[in-house]
Amino acid sequence: MEFKIALIKGDGIGPEIIDSATAVLDEIGKRFGHTFHYEELLAGGVAIDETGVPLPDETLAACKASDSVLLGAVGGPKWDNLPGHLRPERGLLAIRQELGLFTNLRPAKLYSSLKSESPLRPDIVEDGFDMMIVRELTGGIYFGEEGRRQGKFGEEAYDTESYGEGEVERIGRVAFELARKRRKHVTSIDKANVLESSRLWREVMHRLAKEYSDVEYIDMLVDNAAMQIVKNPGQFDVVVTSNMFGDILSDEAAVCTGSIGLLPSASIGSTKCGMYEPIHGSAPRMAGENRANPLGTILSAAMMLRHSFKLEEEAALIEDAIERMLEDGFRTKDILGTSTKTPLGTKEITQKVIEYL
Ligand code: IPM
Ligand code: MG
Repeated sequence: MEFKIALIKGDGIGPEIIDSATAVLDEIGKRFGHTFHYEELLAGGVAIDETGVPLPDETLAACKASDSVLLGAVGGPKWDNLPGHLRPERGLLAIRQELGLFTNLRPAKLYSSLKSESPLRPDIVEDGFDMMIVRELTGGIYFGEEGRRQGKFGEEAYDTESYGEGEVERIGRVAFELARKRRKHVTSIDKANVLESSRLWREVMHRLAKEYSDVEYIDMLVDNAAMQIVKNPGQFDVVVTSNMFGDILSDEAAVCTGSIGLLPSASIGSTKCGMYEPIHGSAPRMAGENRANPLGTILSAAMMLRHSFKLEEEAALIEDAIERMLEDGFRTKDILGTSTKTPLGTKEITQKVIEYL
């Protein structure tokens, strides 16, 4: 089969980790007889430097015309003082919104070979954990009304959290459907003791929970959830939450797996075209040094094969290769832990993944 992939390398370590992912994809292509056509597009800081905007129209058009988008990372200190609508991150948010990618899947799973790299106590991670964070991605405070005005304390700035019933219902359905294919448990995280938007969120989730009566359901307040993730991560199967809570909790869950460099993500909507990217940032200080961990990006490419291209066998092969490679002790520096092997660079670990394929 043939697929057209829009490549947004972005800033910082973005280009290196995307090169790793395409190297692995090309190997998969060779094995299974698929051809992946890549189109390199500008977004983020590099796009600001070259075109003056974080998401040029042609990038957006090309993303829409592709079978999927693979993105490295955007942002960096160089662009930190630009106004909000011109920041690199705005480019990323605009793609999510324009492509209607309302679901963000972030699987946080502890590999058994990385237990000692987790910052959590050994007895807490003894039995491992495997949670799927389902983050709402095109609503909430990220996209609500914002502005500046004069207030009691001088100039005031505001951002608004709001959710519509339909928005909550569609993300809730994704979570319940996924749970049916996993361990049949959904935790919905909100702040319903304080926020009206969370109370609506909870009402809708309760309606769905009745409909999906074969799935066990619980509500959890976000402050408690932040605590439970480090205290007993094994209790979570599918976690569903709003855009901002999902952003925060997914970094927390990620680092509990050993390194934020390991976590992939899939952003999907109602069409086949999704966007796949690691959950970490552009790590500008590491850029160009061949020491970034590309595994989160390679695993994102695997998610693209599974969710957008329906190539389950190919996706599973990549995931399995990475798991076996880690079991044999091959590591990048961020997950070296107790391994006695020399840490591998970005390119070298990519070659290892290819060998293990
Ligand atoms: C993420 C990132 C983004 C977000 C930033 C870069 C806009 O932190 O994907 O988690 O907040 O969604
Ligand atoms: Mg984040």
